[in-house]
Amino acid sequence: MTDLNKINSVFVEKLKTIKSKDELQHLKTEFFGKSGEITNQFKKLSSFQGEEKKKFASSLNKLKDNFINLINKKFSEFESLEINKKLKDENIDISLPIRPFNQGKIHPVSQVIDEISSIFSEIGFSIAEGPDVETEYNNFTALNTPENHPARDMHDTFYLEKNKKLLLRTHTSPVQIRTMLNGKPPFKIIVPGRTYRSDSDQTHTPMFHQLEGLHIDKDITMGHLKGCLNYFVNEFFEIKNIKMRFRPSHFPFTEPSAEVDIQYKIKDGKIIIGEGDKWLEILGCGMVHPNVLNNVKIDTKKFQGFAFGMGIDRLAMLKYGINDLRSFFDSDYRWLNHFGFDPLDVPTNYRGLSR
Ligand code: PHE
Repeated sequence: MTDLNKINSVFVEKLKTIKSKDELQHLKTEFFGKSGEITNQFKKLSSFQGEEKKKFASSLNKLKDNFINLINKKFSEFESLEINKKLKDENIDISLPIRPFNQGKIHPVSQVIDEISSIFSEIGFSIAEGPDVETEYNNFTALNTPENHPARDMHDTFYLEKNKKLLLRTHTSPVQIRTMLNGKPPFKIIVPGRTYRSDSDQTHTPMFHQLEGLHIDKDITMGHLKGCLNYFVNEFFEIKNIKMRFRPSHFPFTEPSAEVDIQYKIKDGKIIIGEGDKWLEILGCGMVHPNVLNNVKIDTKKFQGFAFGMGIDRLAMLKYGINDLRSFFDSDYRWLNHFGFDPLDVPTNYRGLSR
């Protein structure tokens, strides 16, 4: 019995010094392992008889159960210490200042393309696209622009090969050709995209953006063209009854051709659209030339229509009061932050269409 008391006090003392789960495991082996103290006492059992055996067995079992309980209790203590430490280490410090957050902005050109696309889609136009690198055939020849036409001049056009067969498109009009070659009339498309001309000053950059329009069907007239552009201008500038004027002009691929001017005035150094008696040119247009329709094998006795082309950057400058076109393409974040649009702000004339 005294043996058991001694074992008990040794165990209790040792348990006090235990500092980790590992040490606890060692202690367990020391007492319950193959030649552990408790195991040895159980081996002794057979040397007792009768009452004595019973008593000893009962005390030994009690001792064993007590040890096991103490070990388990210690084990849980270590477990909760570990969990608490983990919780403390992984805690979010809500007093920390937030990291700087830069929200992106939508470039005015992207914004205006979205606005224009949504205005034209409302009246049944769909969006077509074409490559920036074009053949001189699509860019000029098929558009009834003869070999010696000044528009083909080396000074304006970026040719990509000595033989002048490939170039950077000078306007979005070649997509008229691509669309008509690839399908059957009727056609009713708009084409936003990048265009290139060798030119650079406050209102010209070598790369700029145009939006082409093409509507071919039976019985399409200049009246439809006027109605369509009139609707567009009022919607785009969000002003009712802007005065427009169709001024006779010339493009090789339209006949008759016109340029469209809108009414404006200057007040305190700022352009005000829709008021005053000055005229501002905003686009070129006309009835598609029969030679163009013949080039894409459309029967001119059955089909006819109109086309127009406008400078997107210029429209963005006018609508949002930006006066240097070159700043559009400087990639200056401060500029974009000022003139750009919040991605979550839905423009007033947005109709649920995105590019
Ligand atoms: N492509 C012409 C330009 O770049 C614009 C235009 C398009 C004119 C369609 C008439 C018809 O100036």
